[in-house]
Amino acid sequence: MTDNQAIPDEDRIASLALPDVEATRGLGARLAPILRSGDIIALWGDLGAGKSTLARGLVQAAMGDDIEVPSPTFTLVQIYELPDYDLWHMDLYRLDDAEDVFELGVEDAFVEAVSLIEWPDRMGGHLPLHRLDIRIDQTDGGRQATLSAPPGEWHKRLAEIGLQGASA
Ligand SMILES: Nc1ncnc2c1ncn2[C@@H]1O[C@H](COP(=O)(O)OP(=O)(O)OP(=O)(O)O)[C@@H](O)[C@H]1O
Ligand SMILES: [Mg+2]
Repeated sequence: MTDNQAIPDEDRIASLALPDVEATRGLGARLAPILRSGDIIALWGDLGAGKSTLARGLVQAAMGDDIEVPSPTFTLVQIYELPDYDLWHMDLYRLDDAEDVFELGVEDAFVEAVSLIEWPDRMGGHLPLHRLDIRIDQTDGGRQATLSAPPGEWHKRLAEIGLQGASA
């Protein structure tokens, strides 16, 4: 997935303008209540697009604003223990080889945890298909988020929080 044109029409869920940092955090926060064990969210976008900002909004909505959510640039993964599941925030920018991702323990995380993955392209073909993709593009002064997933589950769940078909 490199640009919006690459998203098949049936996979498109929503496109949202994120005019400021709070809007990026807010999108993360909206997703927090619908997450469940085994969910995988791939966060696409250039350096500085706002991927960690969205992840921070999500984690803090689930755990409180006092929780520090550092960018796991060097550790590659930061794990948050929530009541119903562990949340894995990954930043794979520095992953040298796609195979190395297994050393982090992602196989178990993909089944039992909720995975938020920055730089998911670094995993190559190991990135699971049953995932929600969120692409963040820089626009004049803000960002644009595009949500997509294969038809089914994610479309239904995002409809429940008013995101299916949303366009702004
Ligand atoms: N909607 C927005 N409008 C303007 N600035 C934003 C928006 N969302 C996030 N930012 C800002 O963009 C900057 C980079 O954000 P962030 O660190 O989340 O990017 P990233 O995609 O995680 O980058 P990296 O690829 O380096 O991990 C931050 O200063 C953040 O406050
Ligand atoms: Mg980041």
